[in-house]
Amino acid sequence: MDLSIIGSGYVGLVTGACFADVGHTVVCVDNDPRKIEALQAGKVPIYEPGLEEVIHRNVSAHRLRFTGSIREGVDNSQIVFIAVPTPQQPNGDVDLSFIEKVAREIAGVLTSYRVIVDKSTVPVKTGEKVAESIKRYNRHGAKFDVVSNPEFLREGCAVGDLMHPDRIVIGAQSEHAIDLMKKVYEPFMAPILVTDINSAELIKHAANSFLALKISYINALSAICEASGANIEKVADGIGMDRRIGRDFLNAGIGYGGSCFPKDIAAFVTICEQLGVPFNLLKEVQRINTAQKERFLKAIRETLWVLREKKIAVWGLTFKPDTDDIRSSVAIDLVAALLREGAHVIAYDPKGIEKARDVKTIADAKFASSALEATDGAEALIVATEWSEFANVDLAVVKSKMTTPIVFDGRNLFDPETMGQLGFRYHSIGRASVKPH
Ligand code: UDX
Repeated sequence: MDLSIIGSGYVGLVTGACFADVGHTVVCVDNDPRKIEALQAGKVPIYEPGLEEVIHRNVSAHRLRFTGSIREGVDNSQIVFIAVPTPQQPNGDVDLSFIEKVAREIAGVLTSYRVIVDKSTVPVKTGEKVAESIKRYNRHGAKFDVVSNPEFLREGCAVGDLMHPDRIVIGAQSEHAIDLMKKVYEPFMAPILVTDINSAELIKHAANSFLALKISYINALSAICEASGANIEKVADGIGMDRRIGRDFLNAGIGYGGSCFPKDIAAFVTICEQLGVPFNLLKEVQRINTAQKERFLKAIRETLWVLREKKIAVWGLTFKPDTDDIRSSVAIDLVAALLREGAHVIAYDPKGIEKARDVKTIADAKFASSALEATDGAEALIVATEWSEFANVDLAVVKSKMTTPIVFDGRNLFDPETMGQLGFRYHSIGRASVKPH
């Protein structure tokens, strides 16, 4: 099929590339000329494992191309996907101005029937607004249908998630639009759930909120484990083995971050309030997430006593491994907090340093060129992101490099017993702290 994707950011690029990879012809559109030029020159502006190969393969096969023109996209596709950002405003509301603008622009160049699909994460009832807007600016009176088709991609494994989805959600009214959407997704051989537009929009917010709730649940339990001498990993295994609960998203840590969970949960809380149905459970999810980071900082302060002038190594800056994304990263918040208290921070991240250099709150941080280098002379090491690279570092060498071998592991990457044997003082999440044996 002929498809266009308006917005070549994270979701748009991965979606466009994978649609092309299953045989569709795809035009990816973006209003940032530098991005389009880079993509046309074969450069991929984000780090996502496997994405570059898929893009190059499909550009070579003439199934994927990039343009700055919405008209070119709309003219050359049966289905137009909208994948533009929906950032959070300071009051918690979602900024829908990019969606509204794109809807107007599509309407202005619409000359015959198209299905217009919203892929961006939006508040329930946005589809109705998009349809209204297109109708209002539809100069040629062309027929169209609006569909909601939320994405469920995780950064770091987005290509795999897109190629092998758990489910495809299609929210639509028109049978014709549903048939066309089913054709788009036929090659993916995934279960398809057809709903009304409002339900599809709600599914996205509800799914992300539920996953965040799982994380906050296990993080709240981790505090109880620390207070009672239980082990959070055993507890997570024990409850996760119940198939009704499942072990996924029960990894305790320093809290969830990223471009989705914090924003989507805040947006959902606001929408529910606007609908007159406050979702207080989700406010508690947010509170626990913040408290988890504070609890970790408290443990650091309690152990190191004074942070001022202490040399602290931080491993990990991205909000999770296998991405270069540092948006709403708890690791960045931690570095900022340590710097505010006068510590000297030397951070290392396999992919996140370039973006971290531009973050004002951590302008005083220094960056190392390897995990080992960061630990040189350090009085403490903080593991903030669980990159597999860190799990493979020779810990005996780390110990020999550090001035005082104290490790705060915010992602439970290491085994407490081993750390004690190696001579570290070791604090992790929801597990007993260890002193050198
Ligand atoms: C999420 C959803 O998973 C995805 O379906 C949606 O489309 C976009 O939002 P993403 O933000 O890429 O994806 O990351 P995800 O893997 O969900 O992790 C989010 C945060 O939760 C990270 O900071 C991660 O470290 C944290 N997390 C995740 C935990 O702390 N514990 C866990 O068990 C799982």
